[in-house]
This record gives sequence, C-alpha cells and structure tokens, in this order.
Amino acid sequence: MQPTSLFLLPLLSFLLLFHDTAHAECEPRTCGDLTVKYPFWLGGVNESSSPCGHPAFQVRCSNDGGAASLMGSAINVLRVDYDNNSFVASHSRIAGGNDGVCRTDFNISVSIALSPFKFSSRNRALCFLYNCSGGTEPRGPEFVNATSVCNSPIYAYLGGNYYWDSPPAIATGRCKYTFFPVLESEEAATMTAANYPRLLKDGFILEWQTVSVGDCPACVASGGQCRYNNATAAFACLCPDGKLRRTSSCVGESIPVPSHLLHLH
Ligand SMILES: *[C@@H]1O[C@H](CO)[C@@H](O)[C@H](O)[C@H]1NC(C)=O
Ligand SMILES: *[C@@H]1O[C@H](CO)[C@@H](O)[C@H](O)[C@H]1NC(C)=O
Ligand SMILES: *[C@@H]1O[C@H](CO)[C@@H](O)[C@H](O)[C@H]1NC(C)=O
Ligand SMILES: *[C@@H]1O[C@H](CO)[C@@H](O)[C@H](O)[C@H]1NC(C)=O
Ligand SMILES: *[C@@H]1O[C@H](CO)[C@@H](O)[C@H](O)[C@H]1NC(C)=O
Ligand SMILES: *[C@@H]1O[C@H](CO)[C@@H](O)[C@H](O)[C@H]1NC(C)=O
Repeated sequence: MQPTSLFLLPLLSFLLLFHDTAHAECEPRTCGDLTVKYPFWLGGVNESSSPCGHPAFQVRCSNDGGAASLMGSAINVLRVDYDNNSFVASHSRIAGGNDGVCRTDFNISVSIALSPFKFSSRNRALCFLYNCSGGTEPRGPEFVNATSVCNSPIYAYLGGNYYWDSPPAIATGRCKYTFFPVLESEEAATMTAANYPRLLKDGFILEWQTVSVGDCPACVASGGQCRYNNATAAFACLCPDGKLRRTSSCVGESIPVPSHLLHLH
C-alpha cells in the first residue's frame, strides 16, 4: 500500500462514519400528533451509545401509533412545548376510560420522583376522599360525589395550586386522601370539582430543567446535532467535524470520542 493510502484510509472511514452518524439519525419523528425531537426520542430496539435524546425522555409510541408514553412509565406525553421546557402529561391509570376516578388511590408524585421532571406550579390540585369510615363523609357543596361507576364512595374536591409535597388543607374526616395535578384552564366553567372526568383526562404540566438536558438550541444554532453521550452520562453536541462536544456549541473545545461511540448501528 502507498504511504498516502495508509494516511487516507483512517480519514476516509472516519468521514464515512460521520456521514452515517450525522444524517438519517435523530431527525424529528412523529407519534400521532406529537413531534418527537431532542430531548425526547423514540427509542428503537437496539440502542446506540449516543442516543438521540436523554434516557429519561425516551418515548414509546403505541402500536397503533396514536399515543406516546415515557418508556417504562405510566406517564403519557400529550403535547410538548419545546420553547418552554414543558409538556402536558397524563397518567394512564387515571386518564383512560370512564372509571379512572375509581383508581385514584395512589400517590402520583412517586411516578416522577426520580426523574428530571417536576410538576409545574401552574397545575391545580384535584383531591379525592374515599374509604371514609364511621360516617365521616365530607359535607358541603365543594365536595362532589364522584362515586358513579366505582364500587365504593369517592368524593372530589378542587383545590388551589398543586404542590407535590403539600396537599390542600381540607377537613378529611376519617377518609383516605389523595391529590393530583390538573391543567389550569382559563375557562372558569372547566375548573370545577364536578368536571373531574375531563380534568383527569386533560392531564397536567411537567417541566424539565435545561441543566439536565443541555442547551440544544445553542448546539443546533452552531451547526451541531443534539445527542446524549452514554459514556459521560451527559448532553453532547455532535459537531460537523464529527466530534462530540460537552459544551452546547460547536465553537467550544472538543473532547476526544472513542471510535466505538461513532458506530450507531
Ligand atoms: C437488534 O440486534 C439483534 C442482535 O444483535 C439483531 O438480531 C436484530 O436484528 C436487531 N434489531 C434491529 C431492529 O436492528
Ligand atoms: C448506557 O449506560 C448505562 C449506564 O452506565 C448502561 O447500563 C447501558 O448499557 C449503556 N447503554 C449503551 C447503549 O451503551
Ligand atoms: C412558560 O412557562 C412559564 C413558567 O412556568 C409560564 O409562566 C408561561 O406562561 C409559559 N409560556 C407558555 C407560552 O406556555
Ligand atoms: C408521595 O410520594 C412522595 C415522593 O415519594 C413522598 O415524599 C410523599 O410523602 C408521599 N405522600 C404520601 C401521602 O404518601
Ligand atoms: C377501602 O376499604 C375496603 C374495606 O375496608 C378495602 O377492602 C379496600 O382495599 C380499601 N380501598 C383502598 C383503596 O384502600
Ligand atoms: C354518593 O353516591 C353514592 C352512589 O352513587 C351513594 O351510595 C352515597 O351515599 C353518596 N354519598 C353521599 C354523601 O350522598
């Protein structure tokens, strides 16, 4: 082999690899009406070590392609506001069917306790009282009898702003008590305890912090593509020179990338 070919070969294969890496991968995809793009990503069966998004944002699209949920969780993703780092979510246990209210006997904050998401303070708190013992059923027009199709009595109450660690202070008698975030609507008629079926279906707002996912807009603006570097467990900007940069801009200093990280298949 000529000395020049020996020199060119690694360069050539590197360029080919980058071509594969930079194109066809990680384009925005759709699931129903939802556009899935960084930090969200639709995970395939065989994942690469530079996935298209943050692990916590991996989305599963239902078999009929109509509904998206966070991988391995009961959280549905309804709409994403990419500019505002927030999305409207619902919990499949209570958002599906007409009897979701009968399954409100759980603590929803456990579902997202270990993730980079937090409940928006724009949510309102929808409370449920059930299994009341000794004739301590709540009384008053603000408590709505939501028993309908459930096997045992349950009552709904709409509180103020939702704080995951502090339930609205109401007289709960000897009842069990749970509370859920619901979207605040500008229509006053929507915001009543009697409207609990729709409030449960419409879901709530979750927010994420850019510190956990990196500044993707800045990476894109500098000509890069947003990736998650599994080796460093952090955001990485894949730049036109084929390098993954830890900073959000292709103008910054690069970090060396082990060649296996460039093989995405
Ligand atoms: C995933 O990897 C396995 C084993 O390496 C392979 O048999 C299978 O075809 C791959 N599936 C896809 C969707 O690439
Ligand atoms: C990504 O990192 C996690 C944790 O270190 C590891 O369990 C997983 O197998 C890695 N995935 C890939 C595709 O390398
Ligand atoms: C973006 O989020 C902020 C803070 O949560 C909120 O006040 C604002 O209304 C949101 N903007 C839009 C367009 O949703
Ligand atoms: C709900 O879960 C959160 C997070 O795990 C926990 O801090 C809180 O005490 C739980 N609330 C109840 C009523 O169990
Ligand atoms: C409500 O009480 C009944 C009977 O005491 C019990 O069987 C049931 O599990 C309770 N439901 C919940 C959600 O705690
Ligand atoms: C609520 O409705 C259920 C049946 O729909 C009924 O059994 C229960 O007594 C009602 N509770 C009150 C306080 O009226």
